[in-house]
Amino acid sequence: MKVIKKIDDLKVIDKKRPIALIPTMGNLHEGHLSLVKQSINLQLSPLVTIFINPLQFGPNEDFETYPRTIKQDKENLEMKKCEFLFLPEKKELLGGIKKLKAPYSNLLCAKKRPGHFDGVITIVNRFLELINPEYCFFGQKDFQQQLIIHNHLKKNKLPTKLVVGETVRDANGLALSSRNNYLTQSEKKDASIIYKYLKEIADKLRQIRFDISKDLSMCALMICDEYKNKFEDKGFEIDYLEIINAKNLEKSKQDDTDLLIAIAVYFKGVRLIDNLPCDLSFS
Ligand code: PAJ
Repeated sequence: MKVIKKIDDLKVIDKKRPIALIPTMGNLHEGHLSLVKQSINLQLSPLVTIFINPLQFGPNEDFETYPRTIKQDKENLEMKKCEFLFLPEKKELLGGIKKLKAPYSNLLCAKKRPGHFDGVITIVNRFLELINPEYCFFGQKDFQQQLIIHNHLKKNKLPTKLVVGETVRDANGLALSSRNNYLTQSEKKDASIIYKYLKEIADKLRQIRFDISKDLSMCALMICDEYKNKFEDKGFEIDYLEIINAKNLEKSKQDDTDLLIAIAVYFKGVRLIDNLPCDLSFS
């Protein structure tokens, strides 16, 4: 694997196109690595970036303590046969950066993390401009993030194609996340109730779909209230639990079929997010 630190040295990647850009903040786990694997399966050259982006952290968030495990990350990437690792220097990367505003700034994660997605899209756009990749890979776990990237590519008519990788989970169903490291083994097990409840909610929605006398948006609100209480009983503090239209993140309406159940909670002081798509079409 070729490790690149200077922007000028990115020239070497031209010999190995098509490139799959896989931006990360490091502390890599099987979720990140699954994106590398998928890109190799598609005969692309993966280029992973590791950069803990200060622009996307709020003043009271965990920028300082975010896990930094670069040696282990390199070993994992070598093992997965990653082609390039870009480890930019903060000053060079952020110097004169064009600051962008993200859409959906009043929805889901953006409500509690003002400016977060502006920081994300600003840095991802910087990578897109520097690398001009044929493909970029993002995880479905960060659903709002991948939708913002999708919109950015479309709005700016960029040639890069977006591939969204499925959420990788541990054996109990907890979505892998670098922030899971803040939890003990038994806390992680308790947190796996998130996925269990998401699946229960999806089942309930499917049942309602077959009963035309029921108002879907009203039922969605009631189900969310019921499950918010269930989560709170188990010691979770809810940021949001919403059943929304997966295309525009708006509250679900009667005829919506492409839904998403999205959640963010605080558990033992750690912010965890997850989501589950729910296809309610009859076909
Ligand atoms: P980070 O949290 O490191 O995630 C990097 C990529 O890995 C994102 O596309 C994310 O959705 C994906 N990912 C994380 N957990 C996953 C899982 N369990 N299964 C599948 N994919 C998963 O997201 C960021 O970094 C940053 O915001 C970034 C895009 C790098 C911009 O700074």
